[in-house]
Amino acid sequence: MSIDETHGGGMISAILSSVVLLLLLGRTADAQRSLEFFDLLPEDPKLYDKMRPPKKDGQATVVYFHVTVMGLDSIDETSMTYAADIFFAQTWKDNRLRLPENMTSEYRLLEVDWLKNMWRPDSFFKNAKSVTFQTMTIPNHYLWLYKDKTILYMVKLTLKLSCAMNFLIYPHDTQECKLQMESLSHTTDEMIFQWDPDVPLVVDENIELPQLQLVKNYTADCTQVYSTGNFTCLEVIFVLKRRLGYYLFHTYVPTCLIVIMSWVSFWIKPEAAPARVTLGVTSLLTLSTQHAKSQASLPPVSYLKAVDAFMSVCTIFVFMALMEYCLVNIVLGDSDAPPKPAPPPPPPSSSGSDTAKLDKIFDIATKENAILLSGRSQKSTTAGPPPGPTPAQKARMRALNIDRVSRVFFPFLFAVLNVTYWIMFAEYI
Ligand SMILES: *[C@@H]1O[C@H](CO)[C@@H](O)[C@H](O)[C@H]1NC(C)=O
Ligand SMILES: *[C@@H]1O[C@H](CO)[C@@H](O)[C@H](O)[C@H]1NC(C)=O
Ligand SMILES: *[C@@H]1O[C@H](CO)[C@@H](O)[C@H](O)[C@H]1NC(C)=O
Repeated sequence: MSIDETHGGGMISAILSSVVLLLLLGRTADAQRSLEFFDLLPEDPKLYDKMRPPKKDGQATVVYFHVTVMGLDSIDETSMTYAADIFFAQTWKDNRLRLPENMTSEYRLLEVDWLKNMWRPDSFFKNAKSVTFQTMTIPNHYLWLYKDKTILYMVKLTLKLSCAMNFLIYPHDTQECKLQMESLSHTTDEMIFQWDPDVPLVVDENIELPQLQLVKNYTADCTQVYSTGNFTCLEVIFVLKRRLGYYLFHTYVPTCLIVIMSWVSFWIKPEAAPARVTLGVTSLLTLSTQHAKSQASLPPVSYLKAVDAFMSVCTIFVFMALMEYCLVNIVLGDSDAPPKPAPPPPPPSSSGSDTAKLDKIFDIATKENAILLSGRSQKSTTAGPPPGPTPAQKARMRALNIDRVSRVFFPFLFAVLNVTYWIMFAEYI
């Protein structure tokens, strides 16, 4: 333009030199001539309304989307958010624009600032909590103008997106996290978003998440009906499945081992109260720590999760093992009490009351050792021979029987419940 003007307005004296100069420089200058924004606008810039979408033949402007997902990370269950690194491309055709003269290449790079004075799709990320646009080393976006007046705007963004998660079957859950892009001000009458017909979505194959696995990715339409009209919207859906490995080795296996550990009590002599009570209480405490640890990264949801159900059942098992000892102790103690008053009457009749007293002290002091044959035989010899087993011995047999039944019953019930649990959740594994 400026060249033409100088050419047209040139003075006669300058014509000769300028014509020669222009002929020489014109060729090279034309190839390198910088493009001004007004070169793209129609002859009369008034005809171009940047607020109005380019509706060709009255049809809604179609904006094609392409999303390249370069990374997914920081999936945070507590805040129900995740982060995504994307390349976001929007393509639309603006017939009102003029092409730069003699455009030979397929596309031409334009200055991104020009977008401010052109019509552009007003898409926004519907479920984004924050969007980071990087400016190093140069602002991460570009604008292309194709030969057919198609404009491509590509931008690289880091998004923090919200993702509604449900933990009902945690840790066997599968979460669907979305990336939604909606039009802010244009209804479907004016503009519609569509996925690029060729390559709508590319997801990096090397995405690696610590606890979840990207099992599926697809695109969908999420056009929304509001009171003001229908607003076009597109979405990318990531299906993320939780990997069980971590929970298997950090929750399930240790928990089962603790439960099994609590059964050791059934093989310990009923008289060893400190050993058995300590074992039961320690198991219970370890289990509650384990339970708390299993959901450290979760929000405090009000419903019962699968892992909670498992943990609760295990807690009940350990608790019942402790209660079993309580029962054993009662059975043992009930009959333990009568024999104690019983011995005193015989001593006067027997030869040595001192030895009987000593025996009693010995009995109380080391209850576990009372079973020792020496003590029993001595007692029986001193207290006189009672026919058959003494009530204490009978009680002990009953207590031992309770233990014997528990040894089979507890593992069996636990196995049944475990099998039920794993069959129930087998389909989600
Ligand atoms: C563009 O190319 C046409 C023919 O290809 C030529 O006539 C015209 O002068 C060129 N315009 C410019 C500004 O170079
Ligand atoms: C995303 O989906 C496409 C098509 O379904 C599939 O070919 C691709 O492997 C998926 N990418 C990932 C990372 O799962
Ligand atoms: C909005 O969408 C609904 C359902 O898709 C349709 O029935 C309705 O006509 C649309 N309204 C406008 C203004 O396009």
